[in-house]
Amino acid sequence: MNDFIWECRTKVRFGKGCVKEHLAGFVKEFALPGRNIMIGYGSGSVKRNGAYDDVVNVLESLGYRRDGNASEGSLIVEFPGIMSNPTLAKMKEGAELAAQMDAGLIIGIGGGSVMDCCKAISVQAGYDGDAWEDFWIQGKPMTHNVIPCGVVVTMPATGSEVNGCAVLTNEDTRIKTDRDYPEMNPVFALMDPSYTLTMPLRQLRAGTFDILSHIMETYFSYPVEDNPSDDVAEGLMRGLVRDFRAAVADPADYRARSNIMWAASLAENRIIKTGKTKDFQAHNMEHQLSAYTDCNHGEGLAVIHPVYYRHICRDGLGKFVRFAERVWDLDRKNYDSDEDFALAGVEELASLIKETGLPTTLRELGFGSEEYEMLPEIAESCFISQGAFRPLTTEEILDIYKECW
Ligand code: NZQ
Ligand code: ZN
Repeated sequence: MNDFIWECRTKVRFGKGCVKEHLAGFVKEFALPGRNIMIGYGSGSVKRNGAYDDVVNVLESLGYRRDGNASEGSLIVEFPGIMSNPTLAKMKEGAELAAQMDAGLIIGIGGGSVMDCCKAISVQAGYDGDAWEDFWIQGKPMTHNVIPCGVVVTMPATGSEVNGCAVLTNEDTRIKTDRDYPEMNPVFALMDPSYTLTMPLRQLRAGTFDILSHIMETYFSYPVEDNPSDDVAEGLMRGLVRDFRAAVADPADYRARSNIMWAASLAENRIIKTGKTKDFQAHNMEHQLSAYTDCNHGEGLAVIHPVYYRHICRDGLGKFVRFAERVWDLDRKNYDSDEDFALAGVEELASLIKETGLPTTLRELGFGSEEYEMLPEIAESCFISQGAFRPLTTEEILDIYKECW
């Protein structure tokens, strides 16, 4: 194993009814005394799946009020409208509100976009400087007091509930990027799979593919020798493929849906990243597509992954061979060479994408001639992963985008 540090400060409570059962205890444990509580959410799905009501009912039972007096420290401050692919401007708006209303706990209710935005708000609200510049761009140490932030998850995908990562889009510079600080880990995560049952099929597909992508981006990186991180990753990928198929066939399958929810966290609580260099080049390429076009994260990844892996398969041949064998149950005897065998594993991935109804080309993502013309500029703006089996050049990224067309 390579050397590593592993820690996860997030307290997780998982299961039906967990908000009713555990939120009050977490508020008592983490809310800064005498201060208000801010709840952040998106465009309203949380009001249809019950998560919003469950949170507000618990807060009201503790004496917090939506129309209360801010100076008494008992107000529920609402911050709605956090969009998918949250912008820096939205984060700053939330941070100003949190500071102005003296928030002593921020609760994000929603998917990755809401969680990321609320985590970033908790960093900026208590900070005198420009958090984007100092932390997201320069990566300076975080030494100020971050407002505690907890999350109620309604969509499994990013794993943001159990890590210190938050992805923001700066619309002015067209940079979409993540930063990962232990200080940004949510203090608690409440995960009730029944909230996720209202997700449209499109989000179910996109979110589940994002989870698979997180595991693959970690698995396909150094070291390639046997190690526990990759052993766990293989098991997670096999199980996720099984549950993905089951959930698409029957979206009401609670077993599959709850498995997927926990798989999202296991993929991103850093356990399978221990000792790995981590690639995330497909993510870098998708983030910039999203920065320019606002496309859906999981769908963009589904288009990019098979094309990218056909490019780098020979550079990490041993690992791609294991992927074909252990994740897809292919038999080496049926192939002439390791290369053919490894590529067959990548084609199994491509088949899964098609079978589950995800987009397979940029055109299916809705890109037209205007977006096509932008591809060279988007390729130019991509970060190049140094954790990959082979770092790409800008020219090759453009080739990959064009092959995705
Ligand atoms: O706006 P609302 O009402 O919340 O609706 C959302 C949104 O329209 C909806 N939704 C969520 N839960 C639902 C639901 N609809 C019905 N029923 C439910 N139970 O789903 C839509 C998508 O939500 P969003 O939060 O945008 O999706 P996701 O969880 O995929 O998050 C995407 C963002 O996370 C970033 C992505 O780049 C993107 O900005 N990522 C964050 C990471 C992290 N923090 O570690 C890592 C990832 O790789 C990723 O980059
Ligand atoms: Zn992702």
